[in-house]
Amino acid sequence: MPLLMLLIFTLASCGAGSSTAIEPAASGGPPSGETLTVWALSDTHIKDRKHMKPFRNAVEDVNDNIPDVDMAINAGDVAHFPTVESYDLYIKTRDGSYIKEWHEIIGNHDYKTDKGNIFREKLRGGGDVNYTVEKGNILFIFISNEDRGKPTVITDETFEWWKDLVINNQDKIIVVTTHAPLDGSGIMFSGLKARQIVDSKRFREVLRDYKVDIWLSGHLHIPQSLPDTIVTQEKLGGTTFIEISSIRPDLWGMKEPESRVLTFACGSDKLLVRSRNHKRYFYTPGLDKTITLSKPYECD
Ligand SMILES: [Fe+2]
Repeated sequence: MPLLMLLIFTLASCGAGSSTAIEPAASGGPPSGETLTVWALSDTHIKDRKHMKPFRNAVEDVNDNIPDVDMAINAGDVAHFPTVESYDLYIKTRDGSYIKEWHEIIGNHDYKTDKGNIFREKLRGGGDVNYTVEKGNILFIFISNEDRGKPTVITDETFEWWKDLVINNQDKIIVVTTHAPLDGSGIMFSGLKARQIVDSKRFREVLRDYKVDIWLSGHLHIPQSLPDTIVTQEKLGGTTFIEISSIRPDLWGMKEPESRVLTFACGSDKLLVRSRNHKRYFYTPGLDKTITLSKPYECD
């Protein structure tokens, strides 16, 4: 972690704060009625048996304390080194969860020594690593890293696929997941070359004309209490960018394992986003956000 990041991180970790235009949920809790609840986690960085505790704790926390999660999203760096053992450990722990539906993407660590091949075999059954999932009128678009290196490289072909999906699904609520955030998103550190999507400009140009409601990313491993970890970017059509943070603890444990819990409510255009701390087993006070979607969620 660069020195500047470390300094800002350390200062900001001392107190919860957040700068965003989004108001906290009035109720302080999840909406009532029929819901779609998504557990968004990232950067599990599974290494070996000795390093399983953070992810295992997070799964146990969800099992014990967060009922009714419908699906989980892992925004990449599932494994620290792409080995068969790492993914087998991940899958074994994941499968101890009551959540039956999991969607992962390739992060820079998943890609680095084998081009994501073990990931593809183990987590996508040999199939596409860029894919979509529909829930009612929500279209989830998952985009993997497609080259080595810290920045997220997305090929021209995948960009065109994404662009067509966005243009042709404007009647839906669109939720994009990538490993690194978009440059220009306003997410802290997304302006750094190693921390962003390469050639973000072409994505920004689409966002100015076509609506994407939510853009989830990981990669940064920064605490959710930092400023600008959720940003509604009016210059980009009002897309709300959400930094998921990491399950792996960092900085000798000062950065605790965190994730997000997203709750869509049937018939409502309000999305509740909560910050989950899996070490303290609570929703971090003061970090609930309610985001207004472009249209109400129509459940199945
Ligand atoms: Fe990571």
